[in-house]
Parts: sequence; structure tokens; C-alpha cells
Amino acid sequence: MQHLAWYLTLIFIGLLIVIFVSFIFSSKSGESYEEVARRDYRHRQKLFWLVIVAGVIISVTTLLPWPHSATTNPANEKVVQVVASQWHWELSQQQFHSGDAVKFEVTSKDVNHGFGIYDANMKMQAQVQAMPGYTNTLHYTFTKPGEYKVLCLEYCGLAHHNMTTTLTVLSAR
Ligand code: CUA
Repeated sequence: MQHLAWYLTLIFIGLLIVIFVSFIFSSKSGESYEEVARRDYRHRQKLFWLVIVAGVIISVTTLLPWPHSATTNPANEKVVQVVASQWHWELSQQQFHSGDAVKFEVTSKDVNHGFGIYDANMKMQAQVQAMPGYTNTLHYTFTKPGEYKVLCLEYCGLAHHNMTTTLTVLSAR
């Protein structure tokens, strides 16, 4: 997605440069305002619809993959209770197999915490808020074995930075 955004940005910058340069050159043609207006207004409605259609296509194609953590096989989901408190995590299960779809039910005993799952390369995989009085659900499917880290993503007091735990994901059964 980041690569796509980067290339789209480059393409649009290029387009802007082309439009800018073409305006500089056409400004020397000496046409009257009426001529220019008549010619360009003919294209205005087409351009309007082009922008609308492009906007809808870009929105739908970039928003459809969300939410990122949606599970692929909800029928086989394991339910795992997660309780946050200053400053540790209590999980009803911390060992999984690659391919396991998990539904984390996340809450807190005291203040707001952030439940964030990171893979072995410390790349965030999924996250949800841990809030007192609420249970938030997070669907995540482990796709590769390894040691995963859980970090707290919400500043929750003195030992916030120590509020971590480990999930072990074994190879597929
Ligand atoms: Cu819990 Cu920061």
C-alpha cells in the first residue's frame, strides 16, 4: 500500500508539472479570454465526472482491504481473554500454532492500555484499545511461526514501557 501511495504521488506530481508547463506555453498564444473560456468550459463537466469516478475507484480499492485484522476462518476461531493492568498482561493462552485464527477479547482492570501485537521483526500486526469496563475484540490470524511481542501502546504510568509479554507461535499442526 505504501509503494502504491508513493507511485501515485509521483504520477500526480508529474501530471501537475505537465499541466503547469502547458499553461506557461499556452499563455503566450494571445487568444482572447472569451475564446479560452469557451474552449475550456466544454471540458469542465467531463473533468468533473472524471474526478468523481477516479475518487470513487481510489476510495473503494484502498478502503476495501480494511479492517486489516479480519479473520479468514471465523468458525475455527480460538477465543483468548486479555486483561491489562498496571503494568502487565494476563492472557488465557500465549502459545499458538501458525494458521490459528484468534479472537482476543481485551479489557483492562484499571486505566486505558493499548494491546499491540508485533512479529519477530517488531512490525506491528494488529492492535486494539484495552479499556476498563469494556471488552474490545481483535481478530488476528497467525500466519508464520516465531516469537511475537505484545506491547502496551497507551501511556499508562511509570512502568508503561515494561508492559510487555511474549506470544509463541509454533509451526502449523
Ligand atoms: Cu499499559 Cu502503557
